[in-house]
Amino acid sequence: MSAIANTIFSPEMAARFDKLVTIYPVKRSALVPMLLYAQDEIGYVSEAAIQEIAKRLDLFDLDVRNVLSYYSMLRTTPAGKYNVQVCTNISCMLRGGYEILDHCKAKLGIGHKQVTEDGLFSLEEVECIGACCWAPAMQVNYDFHDDLTTVKVDDILAQYAAGNGKDVK
Ligand code: FES
Repeated sequence: MSAIANTIFSPEMAARFDKLVTIYPVKRSALVPMLLYAQDEIGYVSEAAIQEIAKRLDLFDLDVRNVLSYYSMLRTTPAGKYNVQVCTNISCMLRGGYEILDHCKAKLGIGHKQVTEDGLFSLEEVECIGACCWAPAMQVNYDFHDDLTTVKVDDILAQYAAGNGKDVK
C-alpha cells in the first residue's frame, strides 16, 4: 500500500516512489529520479505529477517546478510516441549534426520541441548524449543511433514508423 492514498501512478511506480524516499539521507534527493520515472510512466511531467511528487517529498509545488524547468530532458507536455533527440554538440556538430537535425526537421515536418500531427514523432535538438566517439548521434526514446548519415536516418525513422522501435521513453 502506497504512502499516498490517491496516487496518480501505477501501484508498481507508487511502491517504487515509497522506497525512493527512504534511500537518501534527505528526501529531496529523490526529486530528479522521481521526475524521470514519472515522465517515463505518464509521458511527461503533468500538473498532477508535480503535486503528488511535492507531497511525497514535503516540498512546495514551486520547488518541484523550479527543478523541472532546469533540466531539458524533462517535459511538461506530451512528446511523440518516438522522441527523436539529435545531438548538435561539438563532436556531432563537426561531423554533420546540424545536417542530421535539418534532415529530421524536413522529413518529419516539425521543429525543435514539436510533435507530428499524428503524435508518432517529436523532435528535439539536444546537448551531448555521450556518444561523441561515434558522432553524429541521436537518441530515439532510450535507443541510441550513431555514425549517422541522412540515409541511415531515413531508415531508422522508417523502422519506428513501421512499429519496429521500442516504445519506452
Ligand atoms: S557531442 Fe554528440 S554525442 Fe557527444
